[in-house]
Amino acid sequence: MEGTYDFGLVGLGVMGRNFILNVADNGFTAFGNDLDSEKVNALIEEGGDTHKVNATVDAKVFVDALATPRKIMLLVPAGKVVDILIESLLPLLDKDDIIIDGGNSFFTDTDRRESYLAERGIHFFGAGVSGGAKGARLGPSIMPGGNRIAYQHVKPIFEAVSAKYQGEPCVTYLGPKSAGNYVKMVHNGIEYGLMQLTSEIYDLLKKGGEFNNDELHQTYAKWNTGRLQSFLVEITSEIFKQDDELAEGRLIDKILDRAKQKGTGKWTSQNAMDLGIPVPSIDIAVSMREISALKEERLQADKLYDRPTVKPMDKDRLETLAEEALYFSFIITYAQGLHQLADASKEYGYELNISAIAKIWRAGCIIRAGLLADITIAFKADGNLPNLLLSPTFVEKVQSTVHAARELVSYAAKNGIPVPGLSNSLTYFDAYASSRLPLNLIQAQRDYFGSHTYERMDREGTFHTEWEN
Ligand code: 6PG
Repeated sequence: MEGTYDFGLVGLGVMGRNFILNVADNGFTAFGNDLDSEKVNALIEEGGDTHKVNATVDAKVFVDALATPRKIMLLVPAGKVVDILIESLLPLLDKDDIIIDGGNSFFTDTDRRESYLAERGIHFFGAGVSGGAKGARLGPSIMPGGNRIAYQHVKPIFEAVSAKYQGEPCVTYLGPKSAGNYVKMVHNGIEYGLMQLTSEIYDLLKKGGEFNNDELHQTYAKWNTGRLQSFLVEITSEIFKQDDELAEGRLIDKILDRAKQKGTGKWTSQNAMDLGIPVPSIDIAVSMREISALKEERLQADKLYDRPTVKPMDKDRLETLAEEALYFSFIITYAQGLHQLADASKEYGYELNISAIAKIWRAGCIIRAGLLADITIAFKADGNLPNLLLSPTFVEKVQSTVHAARELVSYAAKNGIPVPGLSNSLTYFDAYASSRLPLNLIQAQRDYFGSHTYERMDREGTFHTEWEN
């Protein structure tokens, strides 16, 4: 007997439960599946009406309850468990059914799963879902990749449940194979970069301007009403207000400065290296999480070395520079991530539309920001733009704020405040916008010690010199 439910979801953790309730809120009937009966019962209770939202621990009951072609989303941790679930579902499915992996799976895993399932007549989508638990419930940004024709079955549901930016859904078909997971991976790389920059500016304001938590809250809140408007700036302002429930004072001052990571930022950096696309603002954000993890060694080193005493800067001036430098370095970070996407698109045949990606990042996801509306327009004007920094509409934005990054990087260096995200963004810009770099010397050195040859500026060809000493 063919089932009637419009949508199936496996994995009823917080994300899965919220996503399925969101599907039901939007008028689709949905069926959940999890091995944990407590999670199954919790969903049935929260759903209220089993004709709209139902759930089971039994995979066969679950599959049979769905209308064909079945649309089954997996919201489970990336890795082996995805393969295990696919294997358990496979014998129960029919030709043209659709499995959607909504986790942060590594893109080559998605490619492997997609071709494995395609051979068996099943469509597989890697669909990055961004926005955390709240986003899943109220409207995430969704980044699907896979078979374009099969996407038509998923499209109405995804468009209904996704976040909306001025009425436009924050989801679109991105491309074949692992395009969706790849775009979500780079989204997360950008997320790492923006988070690192936001925290460096916090450090500067605190150490250089002696901003207290209330002032930090107000400053970030004010910025969030201007050109820096973004989810990350907004939650940063909220974080400074949060009281500690376990002791006196604000929570932020009690949190251990050791940041964890699940891997997507690192994958972005690793793959950018493979592609030969520089993303130093993302690389350093990954490295800083690694440095932060070396807490014991940092404590030892701190005792071994003298550091400059921070000379305070005028508070108003610091605040102005900090806003400009953050805006500048946000632009640079998006520019690097989008540069990587443009190149990956060619390398992996994704045929990505960068403007459409910026568009679906304008709401719902963690890196949503006012800036993305401008980025959407820049790539709409020129879909082949290799780098945002080459867009005429961004020249003035960068030109008018780079001075602040210079001033703060030099202030931070003199005062021993680490701002590697800011300085990497600045040096990336200085290098990218230099018609002549000293890498001619590297070519000369390579040829000197290894006869690796070099090219010349004044004539065609490849040259080698017997260098004299
Ligand atoms: C999102 C986030 C999310 C990610 C967390 C944690 O878009 O909703 O990117 O997918 O899992 O941000 O990532 P880390 O543990 O690596 O910081």
